[in-house]
Amino acid sequence: MVDVVRRSRRIPAFEYLRERDRMSVMFLEQLRREDYRHRTVMDIGTGTGRVVWEIAPWAHHVIGVDRDEMRLREARAYAGVRGFSRVEFVMGDAETTAWNAWHPGPLDFVTAHLCMSEAIIFRASRHLRAGGKLILGTHHTDHWRENGRGSGHAFSTDQIRDLLTENGFIAEFLGLDSTVVECADLLDAERVLGPTIVKKWVGDGRWEGLADSFGRGPRQVTLAFIVAKAVKLAHGPVSE
Ligand SMILES: C[S@@+](CC[C@H](N)C(=O)[O-])C[C@H]1O[C@@H](n2cnc3c(N)ncnc32)[C@H](O)[C@@H]1O
Repeated sequence: MVDVVRRSRRIPAFEYLRERDRMSVMFLEQLRREDYRHRTVMDIGTGTGRVVWEIAPWAHHVIGVDRDEMRLREARAYAGVRGFSRVEFVMGDAETTAWNAWHPGPLDFVTAHLCMSEAIIFRASRHLRAGGKLILGTHHTDHWRENGRGSGHAFSTDQIRDLLTENGFIAEFLGLDSTVVECADLLDAERVLGPTIVKKWVGDGRWEGLADSFGRGPRQVTLAFIVAKAVKLAHGPVSE
């Protein structure tokens, strides 16, 4: 059983703002450690394709899947600009659709950055070949804990480890990458979180929760990500 690699830091908001839109460094390290030559990769919840651009220069074929057509359009346009011909972006729900709808054979890699559920781990296990790898990045239960409810899509490291084991994977790497962002006030927190999240939290009460926590102190926002890389032990049936 692999130990959890823990990385944590505490930084002021102005420093965090320089890196806000970057992917988790720990996730990128795990992603970049693999050899994608002659390999087929499926990126689940690809969004505008951030993970795909990391892999596309080397892979034989990369399929980005998302249920949001607007984001896929942006991804396709950028793939055209970069001249990536072995990349495709398909629309679909990765939790409710069998993935052979998008690629008939077994996959060498499945990547999923900030799009994770039990159903996605289950389907990854069905569509990866034996020895194929799942590389995932997801919110940890500490993520945004200061708002009183955290993130709606968070896991503990034990939950991820158990899900991987139950689905026939062996974890090669399990990490927890945490950043505590120190804020002077709620305006700082607003900048750190960005307008989309703030709007959502104002609507669902989490902004009030954060304001309460700032009132009691310390004024901070925790960002915590689990990164896992797991090997599929035996290839499961491709049809479901
Ligand atoms: C937070 S974004 C992450 C995008 C990208 N992986 C990245 O790191 O930039 C989550 C993405 O997952 C997509 N998504 C969520 N659930 C999905 C599902 N069941 N099937 C396909 N896409 C899904 C959303 O539409 C969104 O584009």
